Amino acid sequence: MLKDSSSTHLVSVVSSREKQHLLHSIRLRFLGAQRIYLRSTKYSVMTSKYDASEYDKGRRDEDFPFWVREASRIAELNENSKILDLGCGTGNYTLEFRQNMALNSICGLEPDPQMISQARVKDVDKSINWCVGAGENLPFVSGTFNCVFSSQVWHHIKDRERAASECFRVLKENSPLIIRTISHEQWKRKTVTQLFPEVLTLELGRYPSDRDFEGYFYKAGFHPVKFYYYEIERYVPPDDLIEVAQKKLWSMFWHLSDEAIERGVKKLIEYKRMNPEKPIRNDELITLVVAWR
Ligand SMILES: C[S@@+](CC[C@H](N)C(=O)[O-])C[C@H]1O[C@@H](n2cnc3c(N)ncnc32)[C@H](O)[C@@H]1O
Repeated sequence: MLKDSSSTHLVSVVSSREKQHLLHSIRLRFLGAQRIYLRSTKYSVMTSKYDASEYDKGRRDEDFPFWVREASRIAELNENSKILDLGCGTGNYTLEFRQNMALNSICGLEPDPQMISQARVKDVDKSINWCVGAGENLPFVSGTFNCVFSSQVWHHIKDRERAASECFRVLKENSPLIIRTISHEQWKRKTVTQLFPEVLTLELGRYPSDRDFEGYFYKAGFHPVKFYYYEIERYVPPDDLIEVAQKKLWSMFWHLSDEAIERGVKKLIEYKRMNPEKPIRNDELITLVVAWR
């Protein structure tokens, strides 16, 4: 058993072994009154198709403060709440949560070491606990968190029932798992599915439906499970969408043929020709699935 009294040491333990699967057992004391305990676990490391150095370009039109305010309101968080950002990627939401929370009360967990390296670079005051790991096997002792937040991750998770039961385990009682996702009804109305119609069938196959989410969460013991649907009017430069599609910055483009991408890009170029300097309407259609432990 490794006992440690500094978060810095944990970071170096994890990062020096990121490329292996291993068993480790750490009891960790963070600064001040904040305590988050890690348990013995085998954690998975996974490289994804995301280009970590370009990833944030695909999220530049997203209102992170708005979604963190919504999650904080729903979960009734205060500055001492402990939060897990599950599948934190390059840490956009993790760092936003940090604005309102005490030092070291937030963990960002992510299986792709390259994504989490980017997150660490952005965490200039080193105030967040970054962990390499996956939702199916969380390296935390039971009852640790006041909220597990997870944005645009569950369509990537392979064993969602197991991830749901792991989230249930690491949450304190009366605390929520908040998933930021896109419902099947919303997918049908998104601008990208008008521009790139082949996306729709693919995404309906990848994204869990509301009924799927209910199945995972009720089975894991959560009750109730609630759905909050958002439609936020938003306009973006067509060039942003062209770059996102051509560089495949969103995972929806990984499975499209080059021809399908080119057809959508041509529509955007035509839009630009007809509407010089005018942004294109690309409303944010988002669902928050809130499952209470
Ligand atoms: C679209 S990104 C979202 C990143 C971040 N949450 C955000 O909203 O900017 C999806 C992330 O989920 C991660 N991921 C994939 N499988 C996962 C799993 N089983 N457990 C946790 N995260 C996973 C990927 O590595 C990737 O960083």
